[in-house]
Amino acid sequence: MMVKMTSTTPFAVYVHWPFCLSKCPYCDFNSHVRHGGIDEGRFVRAFETELATTAERIGARTVSSIFFGGGTPSLMLPSSVEIILDAIARHWTIAHDAEVTLEANPTSVEATRFRGYRAAGVNRVSLGVQALDDTALKELGRLHSVQEALDAVAVARLIFDRYSFDLIYARPRQTLEQWSAELKRAIAEAAEHLSLYQLTIEPDTPFFGLHKAGKLIVPDEDLGRDLYDLTQQVCADAGLPAYEISNHARAGAECRHNLVYWRGHEYAGVGPGAHGRLNLGDRRFATETEKRPESWLMRVEATGSGLTVDETLTPGETADEFLLMGLRLAEGIEPARYHALCGREIDPKRVAVLREEGAVETTADGRLRVTQSGFPVLDAVVADLAA
Ligand SMILES: C[S@@+](CC[C@H](N)C(=O)[O-])C[C@H]1O[C@@H](n2cnc3c(N)ncnc32)[C@H](O)[C@@H]1O
Ligand code: SF4
Repeated sequence: MMVKMTSTTPFAVYVHWPFCLSKCPYCDFNSHVRHGGIDEGRFVRAFETELATTAERIGARTVSSIFFGGGTPSLMLPSSVEIILDAIARHWTIAHDAEVTLEANPTSVEATRFRGYRAAGVNRVSLGVQALDDTALKELGRLHSVQEALDAVAVARLIFDRYSFDLIYARPRQTLEQWSAELKRAIAEAAEHLSLYQLTIEPDTPFFGLHKAGKLIVPDEDLGRDLYDLTQQVCADAGLPAYEISNHARAGAECRHNLVYWRGHEYAGVGPGAHGRLNLGDRRFATETEKRPESWLMRVEATGSGLTVDETLTPGETADEFLLMGLRLAEGIEPARYHALCGREIDPKRVAVLREEGAVETTADGRLRVTQSGFPVLDAVVADLAA
């Protein structure tokens, strides 16, 4: 695969801040609680080092988006965010319209830092509201109330041109009527973008143990499907259609950073447990860093990088990943790009069967995309089409 780089080819930088005030019982992200505090300055210097090492390796790029994810990046000092953004700007050109997002927990303490983040260069926040129901927030182990979350959304609206928030649905005991009312309330608070995730019971989380013991009962498959369909309908009616299986936006307000992942472009990942995809010459590398924060720190201080995985993807692997990510998008994929990546067609027989079943369709301009009825069984569709 030969990737020709131009200044308009998207290139994203992901920065992972791995600390949280407490661990939510459903979450399996790389997030850690450090009651004794951390040496933030030392971590920030390690981010600068890892960025320098990455830049030395890949050379010039124009950065189209930056995303501070976590963990809880809104625990960072605004000055730390600024130092990291300055480091990115030292190594690469930042596009004049670059999207710079920071994931924030919606507590009042964190909202007080929003102005500082804006001054540092952040222009979009993504708030983890999770529920507009105080009982549900407690059950999810959240440290904020509905009112506090809505106050944080209001502060975000004042300070940032763009903001989004996340909700988790298909929660224990949630009915269609309750979710419909909650979602409509959320849409009234959202400007342009909402991420709506069905609760997933992740292995090795407290929710997994409770679920296995029958103490946490979540909607069954049928209700889950109805909740999903309701979500699509309510959001589409409100002008926030799904552009990705769990992400809804007004036209033009899609999260540009996440589109880089889903469209199979290039991104550098720095920080503990960050993933990256780097295009070097005609090769595409999959990278991953050490997950444990202190081990990552020591590795970076000793060697300049926290990488634990640095593998060349074969053309077949790149093409399958392109399918896996691209079919999450409502716009689907360009079959010609799949062909360019691996030198063969997506199996026309399998496409025909899925088309017959109503799970995929080909658009007038030749793109292959999953249909509304195919999305709930996306994993099976992708498994069918992948080599
Ligand atoms: C990195 S996490 C959270 C960012 C931030 N720390 C927060 O909690 O607000 C990104 C999002 O993933 C979603 N999420 C995490 N675990 C989930 C699970 N088990 N099921 C569904 N959604 C989940 C939540 O909506 C969360 O806001
Ligand atoms: S959901 Fe957010 S705050 Fe909760 S543990 Fe995960 S990353 Fe941390």
